[in-house]
Amino acid sequence: MVKKVAKTDATVILYGETGTGKSAIAKAIHIMSGKKGTFVEINCASIPETLIESEIFGYEKGAFSGAIKQKPGKIELAQNGTLFLDEIGELSPSIQAKFLKVLQDKSFERVGGLQTLKTNARFITATNKDLKQLIKDGKFREDLYFRLNVFPITIPPLRERKQHIIKIAQYLIEKISEKFGEETKKLSKSAIESIKNYHFPGNIRELENILERAIILSKGEDIEIKIEKDVEWQENDLKSVEKKAIIEALKKAGGNKQKASQLLGISLRTLYNKIKEFGLE
Ligand SMILES: Nc1ncnc2c1ncn2[C@@H]1O[C@H](COP(=O)(O)OP(=O)(O)OP(=O)(O)O)[C@@H](O)[C@H]1O
Ligand SMILES: [Mg+2]
Repeated sequence: MVKKVAKTDATVILYGETGTGKSAIAKAIHIMSGKKGTFVEINCASIPETLIESEIFGYEKGAFSGAIKQKPGKIELAQNGTLFLDEIGELSPSIQAKFLKVLQDKSFERVGGLQTLKTNARFITATNKDLKQLIKDGKFREDLYFRLNVFPITIPPLRERKQHIIKIAQYLIEKISEKFGEETKKLSKSAIESIKNYHFPGNIRELENILERAIILSKGEDIEIKIEKDVEWQENDLKSVEKKAIIEALKKAGGNKQKASQLLGISLRTLYNKIKEFGLE
């Protein structure tokens, strides 16, 4: 998919949690596109709102106090190349409007500038937010969304790639060992179990960090990994407790759902939803 889209000039949007590899894929698309220009990245969340406009579009001398000389924006640096805007959901309404114009007619002005400039950069954006929800909340322009959502790529979180996770880990071990100039070691059986059972909120980046630490610490043959179970991730445990409670209550109520819901202290409707969710019928 990445290879196919790289050859086109289509605007790509990457959806995925932190550390899933959005930046890495954006970069890969740029490289595979064969564009002669540079790959330029901006993280819209890490730059203060007051600076982001001049960061993207550049400014003219005297545009604001402190603008002692003209400065090109990232969009100009990405000429003949790719501009990657990470965390696009964070853009303020006024910048969204300005960026929409860039996508519509490939033109923009520097801050404080009168001259309209043209860009031929390829645009890739990314977000870990639900843009449709932001639109509903009035925080994101729908017309901009349609311009950005030309070629969406969703990168699943690591915890949903259980069948690949060990392969990814092995690839990372090779990469890290090579960096350290060491021979590649194997994961121990319990390390494999730990990796399979952990939920990786930080995704590939977190896996990479865990492996790097484990490789440094591993003295024996195999790489040992012990992941502390953190308190935040109890969703699965909670769900199983919930399910048990519902089964118990239904039993006590002799299958009478009204009674069972009263026993549980939830509405009948909630009980029906839960029964459906847990496939209890
Ligand atoms: N397919 C992959 N195979 C191996 N390593 C990968 C892969 N994708 C990403 N990585 C590694 O995972 C780490 C995180 O990737 P990246 O920075 O691209 O994530 P991200 O989604 O952009 O995160 P953030 O939302 O925090 O910006 C990097 O060190 C990268 O090298
Ligand atoms: Mg990134």
